[in-house]
Amino acid sequence: MDYLKIALAKGRIGKEASKLFKGIGLCDSLDPDSRKLIFKDEKNKISFTYVKSSDVITYVQNGVADLGVVGKDEILERETDLYELYDLGFGKCKFAIAGIENQKLYAKDQVLKVATKYPKVTKKYFAARNQKIKVIKLNGSVELAPLVGLADVIVDLVETGSTLKANGLNVIEEMFPISARLICNRVSYRFKYQLIAQLLAELKEMEEG
Ligand code: PRP
Repeated sequence: MDYLKIALAKGRIGKEASKLFKGIGLCDSLDPDSRKLIFKDEKNKISFTYVKSSDVITYVQNGVADLGVVGKDEILERETDLYELYDLGFGKCKFAIAGIENQKLYAKDQVLKVATKYPKVTKKYFAARNQKIKVIKLNGSVELAPLVGLADVIVDLVETGSTLKANGLNVIEEMFPISARLICNRVSYRFKYQLIAQLLAELKEMEEG
């Protein structure tokens, strides 16, 4: 029998997801802190891989993984052709616009400079509000941008708020909530339906119980 292959986002989400899968009796050896990237549960015929969070969708979309656990932020930022099966309820945070206090966001005559790791989410959000923006795409340490004059504000994920606080920034506007999602390749969903449905039922039972 073919393995059910699951890609987990490294980092906070991968840690929570590993706990969850171990909690339903799968892959005892699963260790998100290890340098090892593939973990196999021979008994249940399930394999887990840890990949960079921005790559989970690529693995699932290409069918290299049947399922994936990834933040809704990545799903919103990508053009995806997959099923979002379940809100796992952890990895909760929110998309927010942040900057130095009193920074004005909306004005007809201004082009707001916005630094972010999420250009697509950012463009869509401001376009819906008729605000002209210039997006400055960064790959990390986004909080620095308003401090050094690279941008007026940032669009980023805020969880505890401690990164913003440590840099003297504030949430100016909350955008929308984010959490971890179980995603599924469309073909796998048809051909491995029984296995996937059973796993989903167990995850739901664990969450409700
Ligand atoms: C995220 C996000 C913020 C921080 C927010 O970065 O981009 O920088 O977490 O969390 P907080 O509100 O609890 O401080 P992450 O840690 O994922 O690192 P990255 O910048 O390398 O993506």
